[in-house]
Amino acid sequence: MQKDIYILGIESSCDETAAAVVKNGREVLSNIISSQIVIHRKFGGVVPEIASRKHIENIMPVIDEALAKANLALEDIDAVAVTYGPGLVGALLVGLSAAKSLAWALDKPLIGVNHLEGHIFANFLNDKDLEPPFMALVVSGGHTALLHVKGYNEFELLGQSRDDAAGEAFDKIARVMGRPYPGGPEIEKLAETGNPDAIHFPTAKLDNPYEFSFSGLKSAVLNYLHNEEQAGRAVNYNDVAASFQNAVVNALCERAVYAMQQSGLKNIVLAGGVSANKVLQNRLAETMEKIGCHLVHPTPILCTDNAVMIACRGHFMYQAGMRSPLDLNAQPSLKLK
Ligand code: KG4
Ligand code: ZN
Repeated sequence: MQKDIYILGIESSCDETAAAVVKNGREVLSNIISSQIVIHRKFGGVVPEIASRKHIENIMPVIDEALAKANLALEDIDAVAVTYGPGLVGALLVGLSAAKSLAWALDKPLIGVNHLEGHIFANFLNDKDLEPPFMALVVSGGHTALLHVKGYNEFELLGQSRDDAAGEAFDKIARVMGRPYPGGPEIEKLAETGNPDAIHFPTAKLDNPYEFSFSGLKSAVLNYLHNEEQAGRAVNYNDVAASFQNAVVNALCERAVYAMQQSGLKNIVLAGGVSANKVLQNRLAETMEKIGCHLVHPTPILCTDNAVMIACRGHFMYQAGMRSPLDLNAQPSLKLK
């Protein structure tokens, strides 16, 4: 019988301090997340300096709790997986320093994980039968991209956003409509009672069918709000939210269909914070069924930032013999391959 493998995952790239233990890559033993959302909310977005300081306070208690929940001691861990980018440099350095110290003290392997690959791997926890190859649609606060996941450690970036990420547009529009950070869930809530066809917000038509662009859409919504205000007309925020969300979902579905048809792949996964959006999940699932494909998305708690996804990604890197040096540095602009 093969020995069980326990990976400790650590995540601190933005405003969540998180630690988790995953057994054999697919079984979650603990998932601890200390969110700073309430702290950053009064500033309308994440304040990097405050985020770093909060991570320092929270990192060791969160790691202790993750081990305690998993009923394991530090010595039982086979490797420490940690996000080293992309993200806020000061925030990343806190998790990375903790992970490096533990790996050194325990004499266990350190595995640096790309946060975005982690988001994709959150899907392995929801669908135990999921295996590469598949398509991944990454929609987070900082990235929107389509990737062909060819193997557990082989990815091909097909296209990404030329400008704003989808999540960024959600956050900005919510802020302008006076809604708290993070904007995605607020827009989704407003949209529930709005008409998605009330206002036509145009999305960019790009030459490259794998690329995205959301800055034009964002400006169109901001201009609409500004013009209505100038004209003294009352704005129906529910309709604005529903129409904007509809435009984003349409743009994402259109690119996803093209990518699936060109690749001949049968499975597509959603990854990143915006994948928590139920309208996106439902519409993409329906769209995929129509073309004979299948959508997998993470469970709600694993859509947004967490350390389970980092431990899961770390597990497959561990299995492939991938290790990071103890002088691994944070890479705030780390790219998808
Ligand atoms: O993946 P994530 O937690 O952090 C990054 O890696 O960027 O993504 C955060 C983004 C934010 O822009 C947030 O507004 C968006 O995900 N988001 C959503 C929803 N929940 C979170 N966007 C749309 N609908 C949601 N329900
Ligand atoms: Zn994220």
